Amino acid sequence: MSKHIVVAVTGGIAAYKAATVVRTLIKDGWDVRVMMTNQATKFVTPLTFTTLTGHAVVTTLGPANQPLAHVELARWADAMVVVPATANVLSKVALGIADDVVTTTLCAAVCPRLFIPAMNDQMYANPAVQRNITRLRADGARVMEPATGMLAEGYAGKGRLPAPAEISTWLYQQLVPGTALAGKHVLVTAGPTREYLDPIRYITNPSSGRMGYALAAAARNQGAEVTLVSGPTALPPVPGVTLVAVQTSAEMAQAVFARQTQADIIIAAAAVADYGVEHPAPQKIKKNGAELTLHLHQTKDIIATVAQNKRPDQYVVGFAAETTAVAEHARAKLQSKQLDMVVANDVGKQAIGFGSRENAVTIFTPEETPQAVAQASKQTIAATIIQAIARHLGQVSDHQ
Ligand SMILES: Cc1cc2nc3c(=O)[nH]c(=O)nc-3n(C[C@H](O)[C@H](O)[C@H](O)COP(=O)(O)O)c2cc1C
Repeated sequence: MSKHIVVAVTGGIAAYKAATVVRTLIKDGWDVRVMMTNQATKFVTPLTFTTLTGHAVVTTLGPANQPLAHVELARWADAMVVVPATANVLSKVALGIADDVVTTTLCAAVCPRLFIPAMNDQMYANPAVQRNITRLRADGARVMEPATGMLAEGYAGKGRLPAPAEISTWLYQQLVPGTALAGKHVLVTAGPTREYLDPIRYITNPSSGRMGYALAAAARNQGAEVTLVSGPTALPPVPGVTLVAVQTSAEMAQAVFARQTQADIIIAAAAVADYGVEHPAPQKIKKNGAELTLHLHQTKDIIATVAQNKRPDQYVVGFAAETTAVAEHARAKLQSKQLDMVVANDVGKQAIGFGSRENAVTIFTPEETPQAVAQASKQTIAATIIQAIARHLGQVSDHQ
């Protein structure tokens, strides 16, 4: 386990909660050093962190007694955690700006960099902030999803710092690679499919792909070799995961069937179209004043086909995205398609449905009573699903 962790505290109202996070990390066995932005010191004093860690807190770039503190700490760190991460610091680091001790150290660090944003919901939703978070993730940084709940402004919204225990679990998942799926090959499908009417128009659905991408990352974090077959999404590729990009349900079926034999675990999280266009027009369909009738045919049921052809040692997981009678549909799917596990979610609920960053699911298996997983970020849900799969395969790691 890596031991050295630099916690960078930046100037948000949640800065006072960083003290609890630091205490939790020390209790978890990390050797912690703290640095703070100038603005952060207005919310909470360095003395708090000096007392908790037993080490001086770095608050300026180039202090007289330790002019290269930023480089030394960047080298010393096995990981850097920014908590809370302001919109300002997220954006500066995404752009490579290094104008104080925190951003300069983050710029110099080659260790994993983890950001835990906390801010007003409108700041978090700001397109520039979202763009910079996407950019940070594409550069390999890990950014935790903020929690939804009461904000400092006195109303509920997305932007709260998650509870210290949730932060510590997330950090552990990110920094201490699990081995629950070591040696296993996991094939995950994600995102929507497109069923073309003509070369430029298609039928699709609002799946963002986030659940499948989170599952791919969670399986990778448990030591698996992962292939992600993805329909069109706006998400950056998952580092360390082989991405196979497809568009139509037929392409997705072909990509999955071609890789089925190598896979030990197949997780079908994609929202595959059930119906495709019978004869897509080779050229753009022109309007001509008459009604247009589309003939749709049922597409190949990828997960059912995979389950029919599976070897006894393969484990097949389906998703049941339903808007009514979720549990009944999930149980029916488990039986009729002969799946090893069905993860059911109610996509009719706006907070956890298609396109949202959170989910709440129930895990059904033929042997066990259903396991309800409470609403949480898709990363947390994915880690729980992967744990459940590992448990079923009898390969649970000691830690989890
Ligand atoms: C009372 C108060 C509360 C603030 N809370 C937050 C916050 O929760 N998140 C955030 O991103 N910015 C917050 N800000 C704005 C930041 O302090 C401001 O963007 C600052 O430049 C951040 O500096 P730093 O990123 O160098 O620490 C707050 C400002 C004030 C005055």
